[in-house]
Amino acid sequence: MVHYAPGVVKGVILAGGSGTRLHPLTRITNKHLLPIYDRPMISYAIEALVQAGIGEVMLVTGGTHAGEFLRLLGNGHDDGLDRLLYAYQDRPGGIAEALGLAERFVGDDPVLVMLADNIVEHTFRPTVERFIEQEKGARIVLTAGQDQTHLRSLGVPEMDESGAIVRIVEKPENPPSGYAVTGIYCYDPSVFQVISTLEPSGRGELEITDVNNAYVARSEMEYDVLEGFWGDAGESIDAYYAVNDFVRANGANKG
Ligand code: DAU
Repeated sequence: MVHYAPGVVKGVILAGGSGTRLHPLTRITNKHLLPIYDRPMISYAIEALVQAGIGEVMLVTGGTHAGEFLRLLGNGHDDGLDRLLYAYQDRPGGIAEALGLAERFVGDDPVLVMLADNIVEHTFRPTVERFIEQEKGARIVLTAGQDQTHLRSLGVPEMDESGAIVRIVEKPENPPSGYAVTGIYCYDPSVFQVISTLEPSGRGELEITDVNNAYVARSEMEYDVLEGFWGDAGESIDAYYAVNDFVRANGANKG
């Protein structure tokens, strides 16, 4: 049964946080305004959502450079969006807290969330299309091929013999699989009810992995494995340059 009408999925791009892993570069700007090859990092996330068929987006950011996003992106029309709205996160209280600020914007619609420091080689449009076919629940995008050290700095799913996710462990000492959770997530509108029940983690943040595990517990978590390159440009200076090198040589958000 097709539950959602095509085109109804709203987009939320998260571009807050403190960017400490890219200090001192991020002492003088927001991480997502730093260049990736020939454009500010945030432009790639906008482009990725447009290519996935999403026309209405809320950008959540914070800190002293929030106004620069407005100067760069304006109403989003030049980048192919129908509507671009903004929300301000007072302090970096976590990815799930940042998403919570988009509750009134999303309303009763399904939502695709993207972390603005994630860069993909290929469009994730197929994931959005499959999510539209889903009756309810969540759908996340995994990537394969990350080494053990890298997996320890990411969310890692544990799967059963059938391939279903049984839990996701954030930054595991012993990664339970070879897959990593990327910063691309689809949720039904009950995500805001889930967020309202969360407690801050050990690092004082509302964790997106806790949101995802709530869907796993309800047996309402689906996933796709991304093809091609995936990078988190905010992870370290080396990761930032690795993403730059890849995009310069190969491009991003390809069909
Ligand atoms: O990149 C994928 C990883 O992203 C996942 O594998 C992890 O499960 C997930 O927790 C996340 O891990 P990170 O440690 O990379 O998250 P980070 O704190 O760097 O935040 C990622 C983005 O989210 C960042 O670009 C800005 C946004 N953000 C973050 C925080 C903490 C906000 O907008 N507000 C916030 O308060």
